Amino acid sequence: MSLRIEELPDRLVVTLDRPEKRNAVDADLVAALHEVCARLEQEPRLLLLTGGTDGIFAAGADIGQLRERGRLDALAAINSALFGRIRALPMPTVAAIDGPALGGGAELSYACDLRVCTARAFFGQPEVRLGIIAGAGATHRLPALVGEARAKELLFTGRRVDAAEALRIGLVNRVVDEPGELLDGAHQLLDEIAKGSALALRLTKLAVDAPVAAHPHLDLVSQAVLFEDEEKRRRMTEFLDRKKT
Ligand code: COA
Repeated sequence: MSLRIEELPDRLVVTLDRPEKRNAVDADLVAALHEVCARLEQEPRLLLLTGGTDGIFAAGADIGQLRERGRLDALAAINSALFGRIRALPMPTVAAIDGPALGGGAELSYACDLRVCTARAFFGQPEVRLGIIAGAGATHRLPALVGEARAKELLFTGRRVDAAEALRIGLVNRVVDEPGELLDGAHQLLDEIAKGSALALRLTKLAVDAPVAAHPHLDLVSQAVLFEDEEKRRRMTEFLDRKKT
């Protein structure tokens, strides 16, 4: 099994576990991550996705398998469909990155909603050097994260982005100094998120990820649903009553 899964009441902690190949994403790992998605779609919970704290997030798609793939494999969207499914998970997701996140490994982290990394983490899209494009999300998710010109520079050159730069350009949300602090840092972020209403979080994620043309209609419908949600009344009443005591 190339994944380890820890099940907590409000979240799954999923650790890529293929250290001998630097967590390169091969067909087995793709299948295992699809199973994780199926579980989270059935029972929506938060996701913490990590490569662990031994200095690797993921070295990208498995180049051994990639080399043998033909045009029909490309059209089958093996990694891009998985990463799209991760992005569409109902509840927020956080990637915790220690060490390299390269190629498809970086794209896997962009598929998550948020990223926390260690000071020794770095990101890069070396695909053009391998004669292919970054076909599993970087061409649209990277510009959304860091802006078009920066994304193009990174995609054209394959230059690596270290943790400090990643934080500065908005590629990661938080950086921790030591690998030992990484998972705590990611859990803290998820704990903050978990304070919100689960339904409001789901609808917020749907709205942010919707195409521009869906606004404001989607926001209006989401708010209409939430305005009649019992939890909204409870949370607002709690706030108002707290002010009285
Ligand atoms: N696909 C398949 N195998 C990979 C891999 C990948 N993307 N990345 C690493 N591996 C394998 C290596 O071939 C090696 O296998 P071996 O022990 O059977 O020879 C093993 O993982 C260890 O890799 P190594 O390069 O020795 O590890 P490192 O710690 O010195 O360097 C990286 C780690 C991630 C910096 C380096 O492996 C690397 O640059 N990988 C390729 C990144 C890339 O171009 N990804 C884009 C794919 S689209």
